[in-house]
Amino acid sequence: METKRLVLRPFQIEDAKQLYELAKDINVGTNAGWPPHKSVEESRKIIETVFCQDDQYAIFLKETNELIGAVGLSPDTKRLNPCIKSLGYWIGQKFWGNGYATEASKRVLIYAFEEKKLNGVSVVHFSINEKSKNVISKLGFVYEGTLRYASRRYDGVELDDVEYLMDKERYEKVKDDLWRE
Ligand SMILES: CC(C)(COP(=O)(O)OP(=O)(O)OC[C@H]1O[C@@H](n2cnc3c(N)ncnc32)[C@H](O)[C@@H]1OP(=O)(O)O)[C@@H](O)C(=O)NCCC(=O)NCCS
Repeated sequence: METKRLVLRPFQIEDAKQLYELAKDINVGTNAGWPPHKSVEESRKIIETVFCQDDQYAIFLKETNELIGAVGLSPDTKRLNPCIKSLGYWIGQKFWGNGYATEASKRVLIYAFEEKKLNGVSVVHFSINEKSKNVISKLGFVYEGTLRYASRRYDGVELDDVEYLMDKERYEKVKDDLWRE
């Protein structure tokens, strides 16, 4: 998939070194709930076990061909309905503040509703994650509620999950904005 500035494609094993350079940063994974990668070998294993799953995409800058992060749709672990998937995204810190997370997520939402024909897409951020909250509000999600103490992160910190949903009806209302790049 493509957007104006980005290419989204499945991860390949050869991306491990670039992935490690971004994912070793404590400020990236920790805000999404996962620990920093410790080696290129670990990044390679994560490509083989996690990023190889359906609808997980590496994000590349068209201009330089650099890996800048990842975006994807995963099962929503808080819902039993398989027609709802959960949006996730992260961007390497040096690439923050350029609108890339929002641009990539818009494309994945269009894919989710137009091609996968999902009934809804959920998204969740830790209550302390203002940057992610900002992305979610630009995408047009509807706030559902906050599950207090829903997550216990890898480092033992307990966090509140702030939950949002975009159902088909909401998608129809915001889709012109999503198509606009
Ligand atoms: C959450 C995260 C993806 C947000 O990244 P980001 O770069 O701040 O997000 P965006 O893509 O929305 O870009 C933000 C800013 O880029 C700026 N920007 C610069 N050039 C831009 C352009 N051409 N188009 C759009 N925005 C642009 C905007 O001002 C925007 O800020 P604003 O909405 O306040 O105006 C990033 O902080 C991250 O990876 N964090 C760690 C992992 C994580 O938290 N993942 C989410 C788990 S829920």
